[in-house]
Amino acid sequence: MTDLQIRKIDFGFDETIPFQWLPSHPKFGLIANAISIMAIGFEKFIVINTRAAIPLIEDPAVVDEAEAFLRQEAQHAKNHRKHVAALIGRYPGLKETLDEAIGAFDHLVETRSLEFRLAYTADLESTFTPVFKVMLDHEDVLFRPGDERVASLFLWHFVEEVEHRSSALVVCDAVVKNRYYRTRVARTVFRHIMRVYRNILAGFEKHVPEADRRARYRDVSPDGVRREEVLARLPLRSSWRTRLGMFPPSPFAPASNREMLVMAYRLMLSQTPHHRPEREPLPRFADGWFARYDAGYDVTRFYTGLPVPR
Ligand SMILES: [Fe+2]
Ligand SMILES: [Fe+2]
Repeated sequence: MTDLQIRKIDFGFDETIPFQWLPSHPKFGLIANAISIMAIGFEKFIVINTRAAIPLIEDPAVVDEAEAFLRQEAQHAKNHRKHVAALIGRYPGLKETLDEAIGAFDHLVETRSLEFRLAYTADLESTFTPVFKVMLDHEDVLFRPGDERVASLFLWHFVEEVEHRSSALVVCDAVVKNRYYRTRVARTVFRHIMRVYRNILAGFEKHVPEADRRARYRDVSPDGVRREEVLARLPLRSSWRTRLGMFPPSPFAPASNREMLVMAYRLMLSQTPHHRPEREPLPRFADGWFARYDAGYDVTRFYTGLPVPR
């Protein structure tokens, strides 16, 4: 029996959703928008792979876990589609960006073995808990000041990613039966996902005016984030920060140096063959989110929502 819960939540997004939903931290807001687009292609990919894996799994407890995992991911994809549809309503060119991202995952389904695709999912999902922990530990800066509807979508998605942090690995292990395989392919996996991410950022640059984005490709590309986070932590004078384009704050500005080092260390560990996500340190916020959901609150307006009949 799995402990995963399927929470059917409907985020009713419309065209009043701003592209830049977090003006106080626009670089983080831009990264989150890229995650929204990536999630649609990646989660469709997860559903296809997990469905194909289930008939090959002997242990009924793992089959249960796999089914709950794919159902949670399908719910995520459904709501990210609504979020991105609202953005496309305002900036129709983003449809091309979305199609390209979905196509990058469809291409993997057409050209790669099931083993590779399950390892891909396990590799990527293993990075989520360390990254989302840092984000959720600073929820007061990185989510709360933003558009509540969009912030609530990410909060829900990220706490459920923490909740099902072991699922992709459990499914991968049951089918691939070789704990070293996913570590061996990790480089290829991250090269692929980073290409998808960069293409999405390039799409934002092309289709959304800078005044609406309020952050640029170079601030939030993988190299840009590394550069920003290193420079942001140097004792520089503010005139230098302005000259280096470091205003507004770096994406992970509220996290301390120690938290960033722990995240980097945990990301490295997450790709080792004997990594066990169930032992990961978890964000405290997640417990609060689950308690609020269990108490019947409307989590589509996480900060102001009242109890709703379910
Ligand atoms: Fe997800
Ligand atoms: Fe996931």
